[in-house]
Amino acid sequence: MKFKTTKNQNTRFNDINWNDLRFGQFFSDHMFIVNYKNGKWDDGEIVPYGPLPIEPAMCTLHYAQACFEGLKAFRDVKGGANLFRPEKNAARLNHSGERLCIPNLDVNFQVEAMEELVKIDNKFIPTKRGQSLYLRPFVFGSANFLGVHASSEYMYIIITSPVSSYYANGLEPVKILITDEYVRAVRGGLGNTKAAANYAASLYGGTKAKEKGFSQVLWLDGVTLNFVDEVGAMNIMFVIDGEIVTPSLEQGTILPGITRMSVLELASELGLKATERRISVQEVVEAHRSGHLQECFGTGTAAVISPVGQLTYKGEDMIINNNKIGPIAQKLYDTITGIQYGEIEDKKGWVRHFEF
Ligand SMILES: Cc1ncc(COP(=O)(O)O)c(C=O)c1O
Repeated sequence: MKFKTTKNQNTRFNDINWNDLRFGQFFSDHMFIVNYKNGKWDDGEIVPYGPLPIEPAMCTLHYAQACFEGLKAFRDVKGGANLFRPEKNAARLNHSGERLCIPNLDVNFQVEAMEELVKIDNKFIPTKRGQSLYLRPFVFGSANFLGVHASSEYMYIIITSPVSSYYANGLEPVKILITDEYVRAVRGGLGNTKAAANYAASLYGGTKAKEKGFSQVLWLDGVTLNFVDEVGAMNIMFVIDGEIVTPSLEQGTILPGITRMSVLELASELGLKATERRISVQEVVEAHRSGHLQECFGTGTAAVISPVGQLTYKGEDMIINNNKIGPIAQKLYDTITGIQYGEIEDKKGWVRHFEF
């Protein structure tokens, strides 16, 4: 064992409703914790999942010096498990951390911790296609003080949660509101990080959209409200005249999604043209009106590919591909999930496979 491990004597296994694995409701037996103090990270350990001792003055409760990651372990059809591109999540956590003045944690160390944790809790990886063990690494300032400055102490923790597909209805197309009322991120802000604060900033607009019957919000750029950024927890892609187009990252307002990156890397192999560029909301509206908008889908760890059946902007409902998943979204979904479950050869070395 690479890390000091204290086994959980009271398994949580039987508390889990295995027939209804709603996203993020159930947690496995163990968690990984590493502490930063006096300028360095300690060795880290695996302990039973449970409450943390928190003082009311803990700085993150006040100043949100916190960021997180999300990735999945899949049961490989040939045995063992696969983590999908875990080193990308570890690197992105460090990128988010830098922007929040949180010290980096070695990428290999993070990935080894993920693997050890999944191994010890391997019975929590659900067995059905579409299901997985979700890993939530997160890091936050843990010193106790008031006053706006970076913490001197941090905790990095990984918890894991058995999940079904993020969306209750699987690949059923979702209805998304393009909001010009609220913004998620602005140039020079935190948009390209997975800072906890970004999600706090998105809650109000997201709640208002849900009240109107939409599942998520599509955010526009926070400066001009002319350009498409991303969805609540997904990057967005359009298929216009047979070409995949997705907003480019240079404004620094969009999370560089690992699924997004994987789709862009796969596209040419699948004979698809994919382009990253700025896309105005007007272009999307006009492509829809003229019949050139063939598909729209979100990309993200939670659902991999999530077809968008309706976009609504300034009261105009745009129904896309008759509210059905399109062939490009389906092909991308089948290919990426095939690699994740070990059904399709992993030619790109995306999967970290291990046995237990
Ligand atoms: C705001 C946001 N954008 C995009 C994504 C998709 O990123 P990934 O493909 O790495 O899951 C996520 C989810 O992680 C997200 O929270």
